[in-house]
Amino acid sequence: MRVVSGIQPTGNLHLGNYLGAIRNWVRMQDEMGDGEQCLFFLADLHAISMPHDPAELRKGTLEMAAALVACGIDPAKSVLFNQAQVPQHAELQWLLGGTARMGWLNRMTQWKDKAGKNREGQSVALFTYPVLQAADVLLYQATHVPVGEDQKQHLELARDIAQKFNNDFASEEAPVFTLPDPIVPPQAARIMSLRDGLAKMSKSDPSEMSRINLADDADTIMKKVKKAKTDPEALPGEEAGLAGRPEALNLVTIYAALTEGSVETVLKDFGGEGFGKFKPALGEVMVESLRPISERFTALLEDREALDAILARGASQAREIAVPTLEKTYESLGLVRG
Ligand code: TRP
Repeated sequence: MRVVSGIQPTGNLHLGNYLGAIRNWVRMQDEMGDGEQCLFFLADLHAISMPHDPAELRKGTLEMAAALVACGIDPAKSVLFNQAQVPQHAELQWLLGGTARMGWLNRMTQWKDKAGKNREGQSVALFTYPVLQAADVLLYQATHVPVGEDQKQHLELARDIAQKFNNDFASEEAPVFTLPDPIVPPQAARIMSLRDGLAKMSKSDPSEMSRINLADDADTIMKKVKKAKTDPEALPGEEAGLAGRPEALNLVTIYAALTEGSVETVLKDFGGEGFGKFKPALGEVMVESLRPISERFTALLEDREALDAILARGASQAREIAVPTLEKTYESLGLVRG
């Protein structure tokens, strides 16, 4: 079993990233057996597919690395790195470019959403983004790739590329690439905006009040929770009573995720109570669960040397795993290497 996954380093992590993806990465890391491995990386190469500010990208990459470690990604257990320090990602992407088809990429919903009506004006990198993502996982012979629902299509594409490459350039007995399985963790909580229960909590939401950042201090967290959008009703005793009340459901879901409980158990405790009582309780739980994370995060950010060392070491481990697959790829394609 080899687990590989990436996250775009666009600034600070928020509660949605933590409860949705990162906490699940930490679980997988802690459940790895002998000879099994997790690789987690910052997709900084993907970040240049959209207009970006270089200083912001550098800062975001370091912040995200610190945040991952603060959340429990242990560089002694997992390989943690950023793509830019492992040139094999970009190399493999080019080599896979002969196999990926325009038609496949044209069907990607993320491309269609991000490009909108202005396809001609987009960067080539935005179009080929999924080929780089395929390279990210195929490079390491990943067997399992934890992703959110929105990334499943990209993983299907990685499988198609791997399959076609194996068919065209390898024998059945000695395939070059392993077909990776996407895993969309069932227990991953879908955390929504605090201002709109139907929109995902997102770092691109212009309103700071819509999300809890992992680095927010206690006062900020309390303020955001108290101002969170709700309805005037009291909390129901059962989950069915939350139907049609997306904001209420979201707050209860967050409480449940942070206390390792379920929506049902939270409603057992709070059914019949209004938000005047529930919100301060939720704020407390958030502050207490995020405190150790934000303390480690701040400490790590202040120790730039330690952070650089973590990423350098992770990158060197990643390169070592990557090289044999990359060499096999060059060779299968008939490219002459010295
Ligand atoms: N595209 C992913 C996202 O936006 C990030 C990503 C890049 C990724 N490469 C990956 C995820 C490889 C899984 C595997 O969330």
